[in-house]
Amino acid sequence: MIPSRVACVVGARPNFMKVAPVYAALTRAGFATRLVHTGQHYDAKMSAVFFDDLGMPRPDAFLGVGSGDHAQQTAAILQKFDADVAEWQPDLVLVAGDVNSTIACALVAAKRNIAVGHIEAGLRSRDWTMPEEVNRVLTDACSDLLLTPSRDADDNLRAEGVADWRIHFVGNCMIDSLRTHLAHARALQTPQSLGLTAGHYAVATLHRPSNVDEPARLAQILAALGAVARDLPVLFPIHPRTQKRIEDAGLAVPRDVRLVEPMGYLQFLGTMADAQVLVTDSGGIQEETTALGVPCLTLRANTERPITVTEGTNVLLGLDPATIAPAVAAIRAGRSKQGRVPEGWDGHAADRVVETLRAGIRTLRED
Ligand code: UD1
Repeated sequence: MIPSRVACVVGARPNFMKVAPVYAALTRAGFATRLVHTGQHYDAKMSAVFFDDLGMPRPDAFLGVGSGDHAQQTAAILQKFDADVAEWQPDLVLVAGDVNSTIACALVAAKRNIAVGHIEAGLRSRDWTMPEEVNRVLTDACSDLLLTPSRDADDNLRAEGVADWRIHFVGNCMIDSLRTHLAHARALQTPQSLGLTAGHYAVATLHRPSNVDEPARLAQILAALGAVARDLPVLFPIHPRTQKRIEDAGLAVPRDVRLVEPMGYLQFLGTMADAQVLVTDSGGIQEETTALGVPCLTLRANTERPITVTEGTNVLLGLDPATIAPAVAAIRAGRSKQGRVPEGWDGHAADRVVETLRAGIRTLRED
């Protein structure tokens, strides 16, 4: 079938830059589109600013689910999105990434016999303790259309026995947003306005439960960033989850670390582009730094985005915070990885999503 009514779902910060180019390309191509925001992220700095920065219209529906534990949040999305789907009756629901909104909305559509497309399908960390890994595997299981960002994702799906007809390599939709907005982001001169010199600062972001939920570990990471900051300015735009953990545990952020509020998309993109190095546990930043050619140090034991290591500028540090300062020093001494940009990270992934839909899609129900 060729879908004509496509509901595009966003919920949490990393969804916006993946869905914006696809939603725009589908609308341009004449599909009837509906933009649904679950409200998983709701602070202006975690949500609204991204709509403005990415030039996305206000959502057609805002489900307002807010925060909660996984069960509460997922259940609220299930109920509210189900009602929205019943009313608007899409023939395809597009979800993106690996957040709770992704799996909840994919499940709603599958149970209503509506086709599901997953943007960023096939990524695997093989770490079943990560909530995102559970979300990835289950979302792929109920998606008819697996829209993959990289060839390793195709391999993962095939290794799980997924039929070839479900796998569609489209490339990286998030990098479409990066390419569209990079010049504007740079022109804002955000690092300069913060008193930083291009090429002479680090940016840190941390929010994964495995890094921030345990106070002793979080304290060690903050101390490691403090050690880096003695020689190189460290900018730390803080995720609300991390902020809350620091406050709850009564931890002190080292004086030399520049703590700032979460940044908008354009501000952050411009800041990342001119950084000497990123220290992160984010999935998206591993990919964006690879696209930008900026060194990235990832404080995780594994990554669902191995292409950023095999082809890009990412180095997986493991979990020991003591590795951060020496790894930054090595980069500053000129020993940084020279990466290349992976196939399909060319700014045209959303066009390939449109082509895939126009060619007509097969669904699991017909199989
Ligand atoms: C979610 C995603 C994670 C993604 C991250 C990006 C899941 C399971 N996790 O994690 O994969 O990398 O988003 O940010 O979906 N909060 C606010 N304001 C907001 C949103 C959240 O203050 O607008 C605070 C609340 O205290 C909330 C906590 O952050 O309880 C966690 O939010 P939640 O959406 O549950 O998960 P994230 O940690 O943001």
